[in-house]
Amino acid sequence: MEMTAYAKINWSLAVTGLRPDGYHLLDMVMETIGLSDTIVLSPAEEIGLDVQGDARIPQAEDNIVVKAARALRDAAGVQDGVRIGLTKRIPSGAGMGGGSADAAAVLRGLNRLWGLNWPIEKLARLALPLGADVPFCLYGGLARVRGIGEAIVPLTPGGMPLNLVVMQPDEGLSTPAVFRAYDAMIPVPENPDLDRVQAARVKGDLPGLVASLGNALERPAISMMPVVADCLQRMEEEGALRSVMTGSGSAVVGLFASKRAAEDAALRLRTEYSRCWAVQTVGALHAQ
Ligand code: C5P
Repeated sequence: MEMTAYAKINWSLAVTGLRPDGYHLLDMVMETIGLSDTIVLSPAEEIGLDVQGDARIPQAEDNIVVKAARALRDAAGVQDGVRIGLTKRIPSGAGMGGGSADAAAVLRGLNRLWGLNWPIEKLARLALPLGADVPFCLYGGLARVRGIGEAIVPLTPGGMPLNLVVMQPDEGLSTPAVFRAYDAMIPVPENPDLDRVQAARVKGDLPGLVASLGNALERPAISMMPVVADCLQRMEEEGALRSVMTGSGSAVVGLFASKRAAEDAALRLRTEYSRCWAVQTVGALHAQ
């Protein structure tokens, strides 16, 4: 069984609180994009993993897809194993939910392969401890996401798919480290207005999106990795209507007026940053 694990971007991210366990309460508009990993699931006696495309990805027990398979097997009382073939294209440490997308695809696939027929809400509850972005990746598409990532309201995107360039500088960023930098910042970084972002995205209103995008983790990420600011600036110099960091970085997203403009910009930017792709949103995701 072959599954496509799509990356996500954050159109915007606000930090709205801190839980006693140190997790931050967030308010986000997230959307699936057309950059993906491929996962092939084959019946096997044990749970095993074979990664291609990125040598830095953790192998075996340390990989989130193996943790996801074990969690589902234990919770559902299944005796079977599975051989997981994972071909990586989504960069790590990018804020694009690469590991979360893989885990979500494995959970969706095993739900079918093992004949469990769990509803998505039940899979999402199992998924949250694996990573805060895994529940969103199970739903995919466009959504308003709150809590630490568990409160998901699916949305229907307006207009045509949007044209983006996503670009990651040479280094990734660690999510907990960015949140620690956020906590240490004085004054506290400003939050974007998520209601405005949501309204603009749902209407397919490009000027509205351009005027409202923002990410409260951008300043702390730039304090750790100044090249993120260069990426944001280069994106706008190459014609992006607006650029914003996704998630906890280090990748940035540029919003372009046309597919042609995004592809031309990506060609030029790729000479400076090799991890650079012109992609479209996949907000109306079809169930696989
Ligand atoms: O759950 P995930 O693996 O994505 O989170 C990694 C770390 O990022 C957490 O252990 C926590 O330190 C931080 N985090 C947070 N608030 C969130 C999500 C993650 O503080 N909403």
